[in-house]
Amino acid sequence: MNNPAIGEFIDKVKRGADITQVIGNYVQLRKKGNRYWGCCPFHSEKTPSFSVVPEDGGFFYCFGCHVGGDVFKFISLIENVSYFEAVKIEAEKLDIPLPKRNRTPAEIARDEQRERLYRVNELAKTFFHNCLTVTKMGQAGIKYLKGRGLAANAVEEFSLGFSPAAWDKLAKAFIKRGIDEEALITAGLCVRREKGGVYDRFRGRVMIPIDDERGRTVGFGGRILDNGEPKYLNTAETPIFNKRRLLFGLYNAKSHIRREGYVIVVEGYMDAVSLFEAGVKNVVATLGTAFTAEHIKLITRYTSKVYFCFDSDEAGQRATMRTMSVIRNSPIRAKVITVTDGKDPDEFIRKNGRDGFFKLIENATGIFEHALRYILNHAVYNTLEGKLTVLKEAAPILAAMADSTERREQIRLLGGRLMIDEDSITAEVRRHLGGAWRRYPEEEQRTKPQQQDSVSLRAERIILQSLMRDKTLADHVNAMLPEGLPGAAGRELFANLCADGEEGQELSEEAKILYSRIMNEPVPEDAAQAYTDAVNLLRKNYLEGLCNEHIKKAGEYYEAKDMAKYREELAQVKKINAEIKELA
Ligand code: GTP
Ligand code: MN
Repeated sequence: MNNPAIGEFIDKVKRGADITQVIGNYVQLRKKGNRYWGCCPFHSEKTPSFSVVPEDGGFFYCFGCHVGGDVFKFISLIENVSYFEAVKIEAEKLDIPLPKRNRTPAEIARDEQRERLYRVNELAKTFFHNCLTVTKMGQAGIKYLKGRGLAANAVEEFSLGFSPAAWDKLAKAFIKRGIDEEALITAGLCVRREKGGVYDRFRGRVMIPIDDERGRTVGFGGRILDNGEPKYLNTAETPIFNKRRLLFGLYNAKSHIRREGYVIVVEGYMDAVSLFEAGVKNVVATLGTAFTAEHIKLITRYTSKVYFCFDSDEAGQRATMRTMSVIRNSPIRAKVITVTDGKDPDEFIRKNGRDGFFKLIENATGIFEHALRYILNHAVYNTLEGKLTVLKEAAPILAAMADSTERREQIRLLGGRLMIDEDSITAEVRRHLGGAWRRYPEEEQRTKPQQQDSVSLRAERIILQSLMRDKTLADHVNAMLPEGLPGAAGRELFANLCADGEEGQELSEEAKILYSRIMNEPVPEDAAQAYTDAVNLLRKNYLEGLCNEHIKKAGEYYEAKDMAKYREELAQVKKINAEIKELA
């Protein structure tokens, strides 16, 4: 980072960034003195030791796990991006342009092409808007919009337009202005004729400009006036138009999203326009595609709270379910707004107004709970087969719930509905609790593996220290920990201590270091209790590993439809769980 422009750029973005707000999107913060406090998102804890200081350029520090730094460090850690990526994310939010660096010729050509496309789209937006508002050709469009009950304001606020019902009005006007055919085709506004020349792609449609999050028009959605097909014609993929990365209305909505602290995601352009005009302004729409991981990236720059409000029909319900996989692996906290009166949010708010819509927001359901209901409503579960199918679909959703109290409650409810005991459900949920083993359910995400290691290694040292004073404990250790101590050096030292008298055996360097460390460690006050705790802790780890293996086997038997063996494994799981509970 020896380019001084970059240093200045970073400083400028930092001055503009509000660290408490950025972190507040991920962590609930409370003010105490000149600091803000919350539970650390980087390690598991129940009492807040994570602090944010807004002064001195702003920094955060966790007294528990000692992670700390400035606002960009926070973003880079929590979003898993580089430090400079984090700077860029904040810069985009604040509309601070990136400093120019030397570009390659290919990059220059690409940037120039994009600039041309932005210009052509901007001109097209004006062209369509004028057609709607000042020309006779647009009257059909005005009539249509009035018929839909659209507020007059919306036409200006969203720069709505109309594409004339003719073959080459736009093409002719643009070529006259010196824009070449190639540019019109690349922008998706015109299509090449077989015999040469071009014709307009959008004809006789109400035109809805689609902007990127920086307010640049990148494409259009065109609504047909009657019942013709297709109902909506959208700009096809272009170098600046990618439906998976765009959210309609985001530019208009972003300040409102920040202010309200959440975003409402709807399916249709007209739903977004309608809500916005009715005064619900923190709203965006997907462009007729699924909600994607790219959309999540876009949104988390402003908030991590998302309210989905899809159509009330079966298709809308399915769309909600499809968001589940992307939501599950994201920092998003999502709820579902159910439209009760009318087919979609647009119809609803025209009938019930802003206040009616706010009632729907209040009654929103957590997305995972919503999904569980959906699964139960769409399944027959009066046979064991049916119950297991539901269980299999529900388990990953239960596992995704961030709040363990809520999860337990949902497990209880599901157990009641399926008439399966809760332990079997818990066992199935465990299989989905993420790669490395996590203690369930108290221990939540983002636990650092090193921390767990250091806890079990400390237990190991306590056991070895006790053993040095009382070798008869060895049998107990062997019985409790069939797989031995967790560390290689610990196991070596253990074997050495048990081989009584035979001092001759040479210890490895690691074991010697461990030995001297143990010798230098003070004996705990209540040594007997410390020993028992240490053994229990390691036994619990051992049992959890064992339990995991049975769960895995149960899964395999289930796949193989061997229900007898499946239940045998579950019975093992249950037994082990009971012992774990006793140790806890
Ligand atoms: P209106 O009938 O105008 O109120 O439409 P809507 O907002 O209720 O939209 P609908 O629920 O029918 O569709 C939701 C979204 O899906 C639209 O905003 C479009 O983005 C997309 N969509 C709908 N119909 C079509 C279509 O025929 N083709 C394409 N490409 N997209 C469509
Ligand atoms: Mn509609």
